[in-house]
Amino acid sequence: MKALVTGGGGFLGGVIVRMLRERGDEVKSFSRGAHPSLSQLGVEQIRGDLAKRDQLIKAAEGCDIIFHVAAKAGIWGGYDDFYNANVTGTVNVLAACRANDISRLVYTGSPSVVFDGNDLEGGDESLPYPLHYEAHYPQTKAMAEQIVLDADSSSLATVSLRPHLIWGPGDNHLVPRIIAKARAGKLRRIGTKPCLVDTVYVDNAAQAHLLAADRLEPGGSVAGKSYFITNDEPLPLWEMVNHILAAAGLPPETRSIPPQLAYTAGAICEGLWNLLRLSGEPPMTRFVAKELSTAHWFNINAARSDLGYAPQISIAEGLRHLRQWLATAGS
Ligand SMILES: NC(=O)c1ccc[n+]([C@@H]2O[C@H](COP(=O)([O-])OP(=O)(O)OC[C@H]3O[C@@H](n4cnc5c(N)ncnc54)[C@H](OP(=O)(O)O)[C@@H]3O)[C@@H](O)[C@H]2O)c1
Repeated sequence: MKALVTGGGGFLGGVIVRMLRERGDEVKSFSRGAHPSLSQLGVEQIRGDLAKRDQLIKAAEGCDIIFHVAAKAGIWGGYDDFYNANVTGTVNVLAACRANDISRLVYTGSPSVVFDGNDLEGGDESLPYPLHYEAHYPQTKAMAEQIVLDADSSSLATVSLRPHLIWGPGDNHLVPRIIAKARAGKLRRIGTKPCLVDTVYVDNAAQAHLLAADRLEPGGSVAGKSYFITNDEPLPLWEMVNHILAAAGLPPETRSIPPQLAYTAGAICEGLWNLLRLSGEPPMTRFVAKELSTAHWFNINAARSDLGYAPQISIAEGLRHLRQWLATAGS
């Protein structure tokens, strides 16, 4: 198989690329920057921007499948930036599939597309998209996912995987953010309710992508569907955060602020950052306040039965790998 992985130099993309190479697939990666680790894996790197359709069409030449992993993630930024990378970029990936007669597209979605600010406990893929989003990231990821699923046809099979809160060695989002806040003395629990949240170790999330690719074919049972991907080990959110802190050699966080206060602070910060055009991320947003004070865990029976997915690395084992990584390269 010859695969194009968009964002193959990123956190999740890097593990997908490694697994594809380990089983002997040919891989090209598409991203704006250069990622030296990819060359060591024998991956052809193509530099380009998702917003440039011609660059994607050229990059996908000769490929059998695209893993569209690249996206603009994050809690803050301009709507146009999110839209261009996540929505226009996805439309362009679909154009690259069609221009090159590629019949399979595995898209990396996000469970945040169904998050409406309330507890989500054990829901499955029948959960609806909410009418309103409190951040550009989930909104544009939801738009992109619908475009991907609507594009499923007799000549192009598409599937969307929704990995929930990916973590592990190489993490450049969740883990470093938690550790930096804790080290700066700025981490606080939001509320005292023990909200269950599930997460996914990065290798499990990557494995799900390969399983989906192998089962994906036009008209097949996986085509046109979305799947939640988790470790299926929901834990109280702050227990998980404290495990990550422990892996970094930091004490558990016990101080808390009321959820309503965090939400109000988020609204004020967003207003100030917009009004004064402040650089960097606000310390709190409404979306983050809700995410950190509600339960969100999902039923992964569909991924288990349709994809044959089963998490191979438990949270306990993943934490051992994380601790090792943080002690060497990651901190
Ligand atoms: N991390 C999570 O917890 C999580 C949870 C759910 C879903 N996801 C989804 O998983 C996917 C991968 O996330 P990640 O955590 O691995 O993120 P990441 O490490 O930031 O990787 C994203 C990659 O995309 C590339 N990229 C971004 N914008 C681009 C653009 N305009 N043109 C070309 N390449 C671009 C980046 O490379 P360059 O900077 O070199 O361009 C980067 O390597 C995303 O689709 C994200 O929405 C992540």
